[in-house]
Amino acid sequence: MKGVVLAGGLGTRLLPLTKVTNKHLLPIYDRPMIYYQIQTLVNAGVTEIMLVTGGNNAGDFLKLLGNGKEFGLKHLNYTYQEGEGGIADALRLAEYFTDGEAICVVLGDNIIQGNVAKSADQFRRQEKGAKILLKEVKDPQRFGVPVLEGSRVAKIEEKPVHPRSPYAVTGIYFYDAQVFEFIRTLKPSARGELEITDVNNAYIKAGSLTWDLLDGWWTDAGTIESLHLANQLVSQTGANELDLS
Ligand code: G1P
Repeated sequence: MKGVVLAGGLGTRLLPLTKVTNKHLLPIYDRPMIYYQIQTLVNAGVTEIMLVTGGNNAGDFLKLLGNGKEFGLKHLNYTYQEGEGGIADALRLAEYFTDGEAICVVLGDNIIQGNVAKSADQFRRQEKGAKILLKEVKDPQRFGVPVLEGSRVAKIEEKPVHPRSPYAVTGIYFYDAQVFEFIRTLKPSARGELEITDVNNAYIKAGSLTWDLLDGWWTDAGTIESLHLANQLVSQTGANELDLS
């Protein structure tokens, strides 16, 4: 399985912090935000990784991460997203890199206390389709929210005003190569972006989406409040721990 970290966008919800730099280069406690998602992939046994960046200061990622030696990697791959087309549009740029293999996609502002190694192994055995990771949260209206029918995810609603479950769809996704076919069928949403939620709903329609609950805390860091929370959580417990027990 290969890995893709999506670190594009203009980070407008964090202005003025993102006026002169990229959101994913901002500090979370003692390291830049982008370190956490690379570690998440490495801890799941993924060593071939592509970083999709864009917006401000894209060249700084190369200066910061180089070939990924700090993470025990031999090589890191980079690509650049023009404009702000959304998460699924950024993912599309990784098609040539993935070359038919399954992928684990991590949004560049998602930070976890634990690891996703178990889910990654399960997905390696699943062979086709997709897997998402859910986490119970206090403010599901900020996220993609699953509508559950028994233990089945019937659909996902993006930022619903009236959430139909207390769960967020976290920004860590497992996909087979069909993801790129689904992306080609997408139309921009009301916010003018190709939504990852529409990709996940396509897998649900095809009957090939599975899900797990994520252990340990999870947060995004794309707003002032969540960036602050991420700093607090990491300083209190550390992130990307291999063993939560
Ligand atoms: C995105 C996704 C949303 C998901 C969230 C996780 O939201 O669209 O479904 O729950 O990431 O961080 P965004 O950060 O683009 O608002």
